[in-house]
Parts: sequence; C-alpha cells; structure tokens
Amino acid sequence: MNKTLDRCDLLITGGQVIDGTGCPAITADVALQGDRIIAVGDLTVEKADAVIDAQGKVITPGFIDVHTHDDRLLLSNSEVTPKLSQGVTTVVVGNCGVSLSPWVSDQAPPPPLDLVISDKNNSAQFSTFHAYSAELTRRPPAINAVPLIGHSTLRCGAMDRLDRPASQAEIKQMRTLLRESLAAGAAGFSTGLFYPPNKAAPAAEVEALARELPAFQGVYATHMRNEGDQLFESLDETFDTARRAGCPVVVSHHKCQSKAVWGRSAESLARIEAAAAEQTVGFDVYPYVAGSTVLLEELIEPSRRIIVSWSTAVPEAGGRDLADIAAEWDCSLAQAMMRLQPGGGIYFCMEEDDVERILAHPMGMIGSDGIPHDTHPHPRLWGTFPRVLGHYSRDRQLFPLEEAVRKMTGLSAQTFGLAGRGVVQAGAFGDLVVFDSSRIADSATFEQPTRAAAGIDCVIVNGAIAWQAGAGTGSRTGRLLKNPRTT
Ligand code: ZN
Ligand code: CU
Repeated sequence: MNKTLDRCDLLITGGQVIDGTGCPAITADVALQGDRIIAVGDLTVEKADAVIDAQGKVITPGFIDVHTHDDRLLLSNSEVTPKLSQGVTTVVVGNCGVSLSPWVSDQAPPPPLDLVISDKNNSAQFSTFHAYSAELTRRPPAINAVPLIGHSTLRCGAMDRLDRPASQAEIKQMRTLLRESLAAGAAGFSTGLFYPPNKAAPAAEVEALARELPAFQGVYATHMRNEGDQLFESLDETFDTARRAGCPVVVSHHKCQSKAVWGRSAESLARIEAAAAEQTVGFDVYPYVAGSTVLLEELIEPSRRIIVSWSTAVPEAGGRDLADIAAEWDCSLAQAMMRLQPGGGIYFCMEEDDVERILAHPMGMIGSDGIPHDTHPHPRLWGTFPRVLGHYSRDRQLFPLEEAVRKMTGLSAQTFGLAGRGVVQAGAFGDLVVFDSSRIADSATFEQPTRAAAGIDCVIVNGAIAWQAGAGTGSRTGRLLKNPRTT
C-alpha cells in the first residue's frame, strides 16, 4: 500500500529491506527524520532533503558487534574505521574481563589488559566509568557503544596480587565500583577466567559481583575458564554462576579449541540449548578457524599454526609465523614466544566443521572479537560481518541472508536490551546499512588484515550518513547506549 509523506530528511528508495527479525526481504523505501526511521514501505515523499537510490541493493539494520575490545579505539580513532567500514553501527566493548574503565591501579596493565589499556598514555586512562562515559559524550565516535565492566580491570584495582581469590573486603570494593559503573550506564559485566589476572577467581567471586547485575538489567558475558579439554565443565560453571546471580549470560566466542574437543560442537550446542530452556543464555561466535590474543604458552599445544600479531621486543615479527621465527633463531616455539614478549598471536586452533555448526546455530550472534591496536591484527577486526554475509551465507549457503542479518542485528539488540535498535521499523533508530549482496565480501586476510570490506554502499548511524562510497563522511553521531536503569 502506498503511503504519502510531506517531507523527510533522508529517503532510501527501492531496496530489498531485510528488517533484522528473520522475516523474508521485501522491496520497500525507508524514510528517516532526525535520528529515527519514520516510515518503511511503498512511499511517496513530497520533499526529501537527501535521497539514496538502493535499487538492486539490500537495506538492513546497522550491524551490532557484540564482542569487541574497542574501548580505547572509540576515542583514538573516532571514525572507528575497521568497524564502520563493514557496516557496524554499534559495538559492545569491555569483553573478556578487560574494560578501559574503571582503572584505578597505578601498575602497568598486565596482559591481556595491555590489549586495551595503554600505560604510556595516561590521558587514555579513566579511573571511573563516569569519566570514560563523559569523554565519549564530549568526543562522540561515529558509532554507538554498549560498555561492559571487566572483572580483571576491577581485580587490578582492588587486589595487591592477582594469583589468589579476592577477600571479602576486596569483593566488597569491586562490587561498589561495579555498582557505581552500572548506575552510570554500563550495560553489564564480563570475565576472562582463562587469563592469569582473572584465573584465580573462583565461581563464588564471579557470582558475588554478578549479583549487582539484576538491579540494572545488566548482562554477564564470559570468556570461559577453558574452551578446550574442560569445555563442558566450563559451560556448567558459566550457567551455574549466572543462575545463582540471577542474570542473563552470554558465552563469548563459543568454540571447540583443542584436539580433545574438536568435532564436539554438536554436544556443546546441545548443552547450551539445555541451559537456555532454564535460564536466559546467549552466545557469540566469529567466522574464522583461528583465534587471537596475547602470546600465551598454553596456546602453542592446541594450535596448528601461530602468526605473531605484535611484539614489543621484536616489532618486525608482526605478521610472521612463529614457526619461521623459531627456526631462524634455532629454538623452540615456547622459547621464541618468550623472546617476543610482550606480544600477541593468532592461533589456528579450531576446525572448520565446528565453526560452521556454531555459526549456523539459531542462538549464535556474530561478534568479531577484533583486537584493534595490534600491528598485524587478526582479519576478523575488519572482515567479520561481510565474511558471514558473503562467504558463509551467499557462497557457502550456510543460512539465508535474512538469518545472517538477524544474527548480527535483531538477536543482538534483544540480548543486550537495546530498545529501538537492530530492526528496520517505523519508530526505530536510524542505524542502517545499504549493501550489494552479490558483491559483499571480506577483503581482510591473514596476510593483509587491514583492508576494508567490499560491497558496503552506505552506513547510517542515528539518522546520519557516516560511511559512503568507500570512505567516512566525518559524521560523529554515535552514542553511549546506557542500561535502562541508569540513575
Ligand atoms: Zn575472549
Ligand atoms: Cu575477546
């Protein structure tokens, strides 16, 4: 049915609208006014200030990257180019137990906190979440942010040593900081129980902190204690902790990470489904068989290949295979790793069948887990979303395009309680992507990891065009999306 409007700020005409809910695409126009979508359908508009012709293109909600480490990137590169260029309009930051704020330690941040918190640049340190939030408001980035507070960040502030459980007094101190952050708008809490700064925290310590979440409708996201031979025990611990704390939980970057569990994703997904029947559970996944983090000796054994992503000791090692470096130095992989520290690595530790099964599961949300400050980053930083749409949906036909879009928009917004986001509907915020579904592709590779995606025509954030014709427009309309109970 045709609808007539007097005017609008921006009109996108004749595209295939995929609305983010999983519904089939429809041919429609989309009208925007201010920061909102005001109409979707067969539209006649008397006067539109700007028009985008989307004939032959797809119009979808802006992508929501539910797993990122972009806390500092939002300030250091306010265009947030690796994300904006692939159609991402919202990032969840502060994952894996690591958040930029509240950082109240005067020590150098231990790995993996050094991936996000820089100790050289004090202007990029924030002792309260409120200070971080104020800075993002003062210097808004091009895209929206949903901030989590990291357990390792809290531990560094409250504890003199990280290799033990926190005392009752330390737990109390961390809870206070977490509560203040949630009251100031943080969306949830994350752990990285796999990593040394967080590892010694027993489930009871995590639970005590996560108990602060329900009052703010906060979400708990976890990089679990183990994604290899203890995968199933870790899933049990995760669901137990969240159930006791009474909060929703997101299993971060679900994977089967070592030989002991390769091929067992059908079982792990069944375990997740069983938990989801009892409590609120979600998970995210990135579309690659390699992971990436700091250099960690325990990741040598499960990996078929390791690429160095950065090294302070040997900067020119970035982008090279650890095996080649070790051969050159005539030493073991572990010794080479030691000499490269501090640094990061890309670990080929998963099987393609597991990655595809996890990606295709209806509960799976897309999260890049990109590490933005590495000199030779994992290509997931620039390529995750187009890779799911192009390689996995169009070329491999793992799922229809509508389902691929739902996994990166509607489902994600629902999981993180982002009202008015993740859908193309009248009344929703004007976060949109226009792309060519026949051309969309990830251009970033393990060899050349910082190339912008192909096929993205236009990215709109809160009603303003932020990316067009392969370049940023200079628009900075991103917002901090606070939890609904922010005081
Ligand atoms: Zn992680
Ligand atoms: Cu992560």
